[in-house]
Amino acid sequence: MECSIRTAAPESARTGCLVLGVHGAALGEAARRADRAAGGLLARLVAQGDLGAKAGATALVYRPAGLAAERVLLVSLGERADYGVRAMREALRGAAQALAGLGARDATLFVEDFAVADRGLEDAVRHAVLVAREAFYRFDELKTEKKAPAPKLATLALALAAAPRVPASARAALEEATAAADGADLARRLGNLPANILTPARLAEEARRVARRHRLGVRVLERRHMARLGMGALLAVTRGSHQPPKLIVLRYRGAARRAKPLVLIGKGITFDTGGISLKPAADMDEMKFDMSGAASVLGALAALAQLRAPLDVVGLIPACENMPGGAATRPGDVVKTMSGQTVEILNTDAEGRLILCDALAYAERFAPAAVLDVATLTGACVIALGHVASGLFANDDRLAEMIERAGEETWDRVWRLPLWEDYQEQLRSNFADVANVGGRPAGAVTAACFLSRFAKKYRWAHLDIAGTAWRSGREKGSTGRPVPLLVRFALRYAERA
Ligand code: BES
Ligand code: MN
Ligand code: ZN
Repeated sequence: MECSIRTAAPESARTGCLVLGVHGAALGEAARRADRAAGGLLARLVAQGDLGAKAGATALVYRPAGLAAERVLLVSLGERADYGVRAMREALRGAAQALAGLGARDATLFVEDFAVADRGLEDAVRHAVLVAREAFYRFDELKTEKKAPAPKLATLALALAAAPRVPASARAALEEATAAADGADLARRLGNLPANILTPARLAEEARRVARRHRLGVRVLERRHMARLGMGALLAVTRGSHQPPKLIVLRYRGAARRAKPLVLIGKGITFDTGGISLKPAADMDEMKFDMSGAASVLGALAALAQLRAPLDVVGLIPACENMPGGAATRPGDVVKTMSGQTVEILNTDAEGRLILCDALAYAERFAPAAVLDVATLTGACVIALGHVASGLFANDDRLAEMIERAGEETWDRVWRLPLWEDYQEQLRSNFADVANVGGRPAGAVTAACFLSRFAKKYRWAHLDIAGTAWRSGREKGSTGRPVPLLVRFALRYAERA
């Protein structure tokens, strides 16, 4: 399903389905025009209570006389007083889900009526694309029998009834959101692939494929390169696995002049058993999603290349498996990291920070303008923030604010947590420079504090996406987060830099 944008008149639009917003009992502007042409049919339907009051409720009318459309889908926006981004996204989701169940091949959604007053039209366009594309995402490449037939809808046109022509800013918002949705689709697919298929080698292959399609530079470092670079922490994590580790380096060059790059690092643990500090059995399958940071970096780079964004970006993806075995790292083992600091590995399940600390040291060679790492790093972050916000940590306030704003704009939200020196004590080791775990209290913070020791030479931020990268239960699957945030942030960063 693809999204487009155009001007249209609700009365005369030839479309498989008109999609019109309704606030409580009040038809939106486009619905009012359609209603007039249809002799008051839509207002009667609403007055009779056939449209639910909650944002996202829908009601369908077939071939209303007086309109050119084959169908009309009324969508509740909820009460006007409560209308905000949350209600807008609920309404858009409801509309998209209803459209996915129809026979219509195209639909026309009058997007102005969905906009939140103080956020503007571009914002509504962005969310319409992101929400609809998520609603239409399917992962069925591993099912031999397609249970549910694919939705028929091929295009969702976002229509403007009030404007004489499509403003450039709205078209730009559509293009950005489309690229972000493509990137999120890629991240979702990689996240959903199981670990027997998506091995570190396969992840590197997928990265090469993305690089070819989007003309990115790509290089994959092998175990021997890691050894030569002194990446003792990354090598310690991969020891128990039969799958060779990969360090994927991607490069997008979009800046007009020579510029310091933005470096994005993604945790690429293709499966996290915990290693010798083995995880309990319940829900361990979800640890195939432990490469979601890597997937989001790949998705964001693809999107930025698709948009020809005016900046340089380096993507760094340390990829390996965390397995137990005769050669696996033991609790208490001490390793030397690429930075020179030694680490006592007290818990082999705190492996994310180990692969990331060597990637952070490696990032120095790119003379970065800023470094942002993205990782499903701690269960503690899920306890702190649930499945709503990703955890944000940063050694630079301006960088943190830019990320917060990008998250708010894409509704891919983050919440900042402290990196205070006081927490560093918890990482004390009797045998090495630092321990890889800091105990139960503030687990997300101490993990970030560990990383901060390897990110002293540049502006750095860390996103803990453990609670936001995938959903559990019946709806189990990758969310594609934080690709929308990363794309928005990088574009803002390009403007500023
Ligand atoms: N990948 C996990 C974090 C995780 C756990 C994400 C559950 C989502 C759900 C990470 O490698 C991990 O195991 N972290 C440990 C750290 C602990 C040993 C200090 C954790 O959170 O339990
Ligand atoms: Mn782990
Ligand atoms: Zn992990």
